[in-house]
Amino acid sequence: MAEKKDLTIRFGGEGGEGIISAGDMVARAAARSGLEVLTFKTFPAEIKGGYAMYQARFSHEKILSEGDGFQVVCVFNKEALDVNMADLKEGTVLVYDYPGGDIEDEVNIEGVACYPVPMSRGAKEDLGTYRAKNMVALGAVAELFSISMDSIRETVEAKFGKKGQDVVDINFKALDYGRDHVRNNLKKTDPYKMDSGTPTEGTIVIAGNEAIGLGALLAGVEFFSAYPITPATEVASFLSRHMPKFGCTLVQAEDEIASIANVIGSSYAGAKSMTSTSGPGLSLMQELIGMSSMMETPLVIVDVQRGGPSTGLPTKHEQSDLLLAAHGCHGDASKVVISPENIEDCVYLTVEAFNVAEKYQTTVLFLSDGSMGFRTSSIKRPDPSKIRVVNRDRHKPANGNGEYKRYEITESGVSPMAHPGDPGCAYISASLEHSESSAPKYTSDNHVAMLDKRFGKLDTVEDFFPATEVDEQEGATLGVIAWGSTIGTLREAIGVARAEGVKVSAIYPKLVWPLPMKALQPFIEKHDKILIPEINKQGQLAKVMKGEINFDPISYTIYGGMPFTPREIADKIKEVS
Ligand code: COA
Repeated sequence: MAEKKDLTIRFGGEGGEGIISAGDMVARAAARSGLEVLTFKTFPAEIKGGYAMYQARFSHEKILSEGDGFQVVCVFNKEALDVNMADLKEGTVLVYDYPGGDIEDEVNIEGVACYPVPMSRGAKEDLGTYRAKNMVALGAVAELFSISMDSIRETVEAKFGKKGQDVVDINFKALDYGRDHVRNNLKKTDPYKMDSGTPTEGTIVIAGNEAIGLGALLAGVEFFSAYPITPATEVASFLSRHMPKFGCTLVQAEDEIASIANVIGSSYAGAKSMTSTSGPGLSLMQELIGMSSMMETPLVIVDVQRGGPSTGLPTKHEQSDLLLAAHGCHGDASKVVISPENIEDCVYLTVEAFNVAEKYQTTVLFLSDGSMGFRTSSIKRPDPSKIRVVNRDRHKPANGNGEYKRYEITESGVSPMAHPGDPGCAYISASLEHSESSAPKYTSDNHVAMLDKRFGKLDTVEDFFPATEVDEQEGATLGVIAWGSTIGTLREAIGVARAEGVKVSAIYPKLVWPLPMKALQPFIEKHDKILIPEINKQGQLAKVMKGEINFDPISYTIYGGMPFTPREIADKIKEVS
């Protein structure tokens, strides 16, 4: 890939023009040829119109983040050209719709290889369908950067086959049109091409939301209920395709309140249960999350975060639900919050989210985000035999002493759970404070004992789920802490900063509530300065941590609907170190 260890190709244009499809086909072709792939897409909330962007980054090495921009951008219209103009720096490549589109003049930018391709005109006038414009562009891009046309044709067939053979055929023609335009009219002047990797057996290309669904299946999910919401809907659509094969039940609820009520009920009845939503849905669920804490019901709530508050920015990236996840609900509601870094985590930490929920009989909030939900990445096919699956501690009626105490105070704080119908184990499961045997009870001593039980049992979560990685550098006085998908960007930024001579350490917590104090406390004490980059206005992790640990972090926040770039974090590290 021409002197660079990786290559990023971006497509930009109007929502509805097939930007996402074109980009996705490039990503899949790269994955098939054995390269690591990580994609990023962003688009407006409208079905048609507005600027849509899809980029795919490929490498022979593991890719940690969306990266610092592109080497190649293919723009479908003037707006996309304008949006990307500032990033068309020396050494980059522009492929653009000309002549015949809304870009009126030929583009010449010093140091940038500019390739005009008549995408709109070719599709409309020569092929008779504007719909195929994206495939003209893709054919040209494939030819310019040596992307396997066979792979692309296979993906076209797989994607558009259900629309009819005539749709597939016209798209094949459009690919050829783009390819021939390059062959006959353009001279390649840039150094970029997509190298082949070594295709590895058992690699899959999967989106973040699908990976969460896969993780749930590996954990043994038995019941799922959700209400569709951007950017979380694909968790539900993936599970709706696959859960029936395993004899599981999926209910599309009438709203988020009904969906969480459904999963509380099914978990009470003994089924491993999950719901998925985004910020607005999580807000609606608060009353019932409190109830589930009171009832000590094992359940997993996936929150694919988006820009808020309120309906906010449905398709944009933000990490702004941490305060709600950790501190939402009235009263003192106990719960656990886990946040994945990447697509592998979406698989394996979803399994762990179930494990924690089942072991501790608690609600686990799984905070993914828009960027990761929409991202596709190549990962190794999971091996179910290597995955730990933990089930709840069931009360065994035969060994009991005749009286079943659902909320018995035990050393661990976890009380074995009976399921409806277990002989002699009837109990009341409700939202009121209760005694050990589950009857409503409001005495002071009892409330104190039960709250201490519900919170105390979570003291060992950090030992059970030790997912905090520390990367210390000898002599570093600056430590950096990130959460969620910002961890991948931070890892890359740490590499950049160290290569530029800065001594810096980092810690990557994936359990974000209760805080993993055993790992965090010594890390914070060891460093003079702590920097916390995150994508929200208030510096939510910094606030949560300051509430628990006596220190004064440097909060670095952005909140423009986009992830950090590694360069941004590396520059901040250099500034504060
Ligand atoms: N031939 C035939 N069909 C084609 C095609 C081609 N050459 N290129 C694309 N298409 C089809 C795609 O298959 C897709 O159809 P489908 O929905 O039936 O699968 C459709 O055209 C859109 O193309 P796609 O490439 O997926 O997206 P796009 O780049 O045009 O962008 C979106 C469209 C994604 C921005 C828009 O549709 C969207 O979903 N917006 C967000 C909506 C949202 O979530 N709002 C929030 C609500 S709260």
